[in-house]
Amino acid sequence: MHKPEQKVYYPDPCYRDSALIHDYNELYHEFEKDPDAFWRRIASDLLWFKQWDNVKVWNHPYASWFTGAELNITYNCLERHVNNDRRNKVAIFWAGENGRERIFTYYQLYKDVMRMGNALKSLGVRKGDRVCIYLPGIPELVVSMLACARIGAVHTVVFAGYGAKALNERITGAGAKIVITADASVRRGGSIPLKPIVEEALINAPTVERVIILRTQEPKVGLLDEFELDYEELIAQADRYCEPVPVNSEDPLFILYTSGTTGAPKGIVHAAGGYMVGAYYTTKYVLTLRENDVYWCTADPGWITGHTYGIYGPLLVGGTIFLSEYTPDYPDAGIWWKLIEDYGVTIFYTAPTAIRMFMRMGEEWPDKYDLSSLRLLGSVGEPLNPEAFEWFYKHIGKNKCPILDTWWQTETGMHMVTTMVGLPMKPGFAGKPIPGVIATVVNEEGDPIPPGTTGYLAIKEPWPSMMKTVYQNDERYRQYWSFGKYGYYSSNDLAVMDEDGYIMLLGRSDDIIIVAGHNVGTAEIESALVSHSAVAEAAAIGKPDPLKGNIIKAFVILRNGVEPTQKLIHDLKYHVRIMLGPISVPAELDFVDSLPKTRSGKIMRRVLKAKEMGMDPGDISTLDE
Ligand code: PRX
Repeated sequence: MHKPEQKVYYPDPCYRDSALIHDYNELYHEFEKDPDAFWRRIASDLLWFKQWDNVKVWNHPYASWFTGAELNITYNCLERHVNNDRRNKVAIFWAGENGRERIFTYYQLYKDVMRMGNALKSLGVRKGDRVCIYLPGIPELVVSMLACARIGAVHTVVFAGYGAKALNERITGAGAKIVITADASVRRGGSIPLKPIVEEALINAPTVERVIILRTQEPKVGLLDEFELDYEELIAQADRYCEPVPVNSEDPLFILYTSGTTGAPKGIVHAAGGYMVGAYYTTKYVLTLRENDVYWCTADPGWITGHTYGIYGPLLVGGTIFLSEYTPDYPDAGIWWKLIEDYGVTIFYTAPTAIRMFMRMGEEWPDKYDLSSLRLLGSVGEPLNPEAFEWFYKHIGKNKCPILDTWWQTETGMHMVTTMVGLPMKPGFAGKPIPGVIATVVNEEGDPIPPGTTGYLAIKEPWPSMMKTVYQNDERYRQYWSFGKYGYYSSNDLAVMDEDGYIMLLGRSDDIIIVAGHNVGTAEIESALVSHSAVAEAAAIGKPDPLKGNIIKAFVILRNGVEPTQKLIHDLKYHVRIMLGPISVPAELDFVDSLPKTRSGKIMRRVLKAKEMGMDPGDISTLDE
């Protein structure tokens, strides 16, 4: 088979020689020589109320990090800077549509977080209680998350694009006591009401005692006495000083739901100490976030990327975050480049789906703006295909900015595989495991395979920010660490490693579809479709798409007597949108008479997908007649 020549990009000499960049090999060697000493050195940059007994205790599949230690992540994100040189440094630049702007110094953020922490306490929120945050990407979201962490409560942020059913599942799954939300979110010149979605989601959500609502619109929406509280009033009445509650390193910091292969989403639990160290380490060494950077991570804070690299990581290193509510094409396709010029953004971390969209809109848009402040580009969420890499490198990075294609997951909490700044970059390949991570590509058994052959990306040893468990489903957690005969951590990603140890990701091996960088479970979509009165059975697959990576294609068997009309297609899509939100809506929907199934009744999505793509369906010996 003819293999195209692999291109290699060598970093600009100013990066190779930069004293700020640690040599990959040296750092990896330091880690290999003594992993615990490596993490101890990193963790020692941070402030702990009580030192740990052990860096790590590993009883497969359970790891405890910084055992016995006590900390508060907000003390590290706030006091560590406020009490030193960064008191008046900008923590957050926020740019809203129509030129609205808000700026928070570290000191201002610190004050708001403390008031919100006290407000939550006044409502009876205590250490370990869960608080659901359903807010768009505005500063109040950052304040609410940190306020929870401040008092030892566990936040579970739900992306504000999710529909009522998805929100209800996450609220009830986590047993949230409080929901923090807004009346509406701003998008593309209009507004999307959130309150009605929350109201619907709260039917059958018995654990919720109060809802805090940020009212941004005039006239102000009415509040239900006692049950619904005004965000601003609550903060205004709260005491100023809020003590950071010391939590154990192993206590949960947050739960973040991610799609499961079964219908129910999985509540990924991250523990305070290990997560803090992982987020800090990778933001400092992989993203190389420095004192004078203005750093823009375009991910919504409702996703793990927003948690680790939108908020916690940059605040831990004392960086300046740029946060924006602008979508990339409104008011025009130049807006993001304009923002980069206006704010002097130096590090720009985004997703392949956005890059492909920009490619399509044309380089005349970025060419209108001065992007010379940029020094580093990043990508996450799905494979960065070589064409998109090259476009990004040339038209945004102007052939000088390195590109970090970072592979990781909600479950891993931090970067795992990438090409660290200073190393040669190979488009199409994410890169190598970062120092601190032992990742490899293996066969089903967990044994090594020759370079260039397809296998599974597996992780051999624990790392600090690995998930602690799956909330109330420890069995599901254990499954992650049961890959092959050695019990590796399974990423559920297919991959290939080349002779130099660079890893290329080939997509999921399970029933998750990555649509425009968002993780959606086939089962969730199928169960939403089946809940419609016209539907008997449904199957969903990811169909490759040049822009979004994948689109969702659904196959639906109708109940007897139901007419397969165009209007019904529309209704079914709408039904999914209302239940799960716009990201889960099938782009294509076909009515069929039967679905390929195994004899045991499992839908063979692989067969549907192969047929859809005009490919050989492979082994179909288990297919029912
Ligand atoms: O399939 C991989 C893909 O996204 C999955 C994790 O999704 P999620 O938990 O939503 O986290 C996304 C942000 C960290 C992975 O199993 N993925 C993520 N980054 C990459 C990627 N696939 C290829 N290349 C990447 N850089």
